[in-house]
Amino acid sequence: MDNRLSTEIAGLKLANPTMLASGILGYTGLSLKSVLEAGAGAVVTKSMGLEPRTGYPNPTVVQVDCGLLNAMGLPNPGISHFKEEMKQLKTAGAPTIVSIYGYTPEEFAKVAKTAAEMGADAMELNVSCPHIKKAGAEIGCDPRLLAEVVEAVKKAVDKPVIVKLTPNVANIRETAEAAEKAGADAITAINTVKAMSIEVETGRPLLANKFGGLSGPAIKPIAVRCVYDVYRSVDVPVIGCGGITGWQDAIEFMLAGASAVQIGTAVAFKDVSVFSSITEGIDSYLQRKGFKNVKELVGHAHKF
Ligand code: DHB
Repeated sequence: MDNRLSTEIAGLKLANPTMLASGILGYTGLSLKSVLEAGAGAVVTKSMGLEPRTGYPNPTVVQVDCGLLNAMGLPNPGISHFKEEMKQLKTAGAPTIVSIYGYTPEEFAKVAKTAAEMGADAMELNVSCPHIKKAGAEIGCDPRLLAEVVEAVKKAVDKPVIVKLTPNVANIRETAEAAEKAGADAITAINTVKAMSIEVETGRPLLANKFGGLSGPAIKPIAVRCVYDVYRSVDVPVIGCGGITGWQDAIEFMLAGASAVQIGTAVAFKDVSVFSSITEGIDSYLQRKGFKNVKELVGHAHKF
């Protein structure tokens, strides 16, 4: 499948550089498969842990200017319940990346092992959910704890390990370097930005959890800066995520250093047709600008 659009990330072969971001369309085999059929190069599942979790009470999602604010509370059926869904998803023949979370390095390792046994092509470690106590960003903000988690997962599985970083840190270069040193095969930048919204008539925070993660165009310039910073800090590939809606956004992330891009909120705001429209736009840009393939684009902005 070698052509202008195909690429490879940590050994995963992608027909094009677009992926479904974690959290969008959940973990149902059929809905994730529909994303691949619509043209995504790979999918990432909603994060799963060792045990089932019901998540937070409603409201869990609020639309804000230029984005979505959500605090679902990592609802999931537990990794062992994903087996049948995975079977269905694997028939699409494109890389399936399972997003996992845990409270300790040992728990992360157990979830990763189960995911690998089910046929996950790679794991994405959610060490960056902005509002889960003792998991998520509490791990991803602490370079030492982050390194322990990555090392434990690397020991447990022989599949690529992708680390999804939080932008809610003083210096993302530090956490990227810690993840790489501990063995990460790729870095996703970024997870959502910790945020909140308050309804003025009642005076109440809109989310039941008060705080949530902001996604969508509102966070794009933050995400581009993070990708640019991570690209110049590590040698492993970077996957860009945060507010990608059109092909120009995807190109911008690749110029900053992303080898592939994840799309989430744009799927929620529009539909799965964004994958083919973005891929077609990237292809026309490559031809118009005289790039031989997408790999030539990656990090181009660092020349200036
Ligand atoms: C949730 C998880 C995330 O990683 C995130 O960025 C936002 C929300 C959640 O399930 O609540």
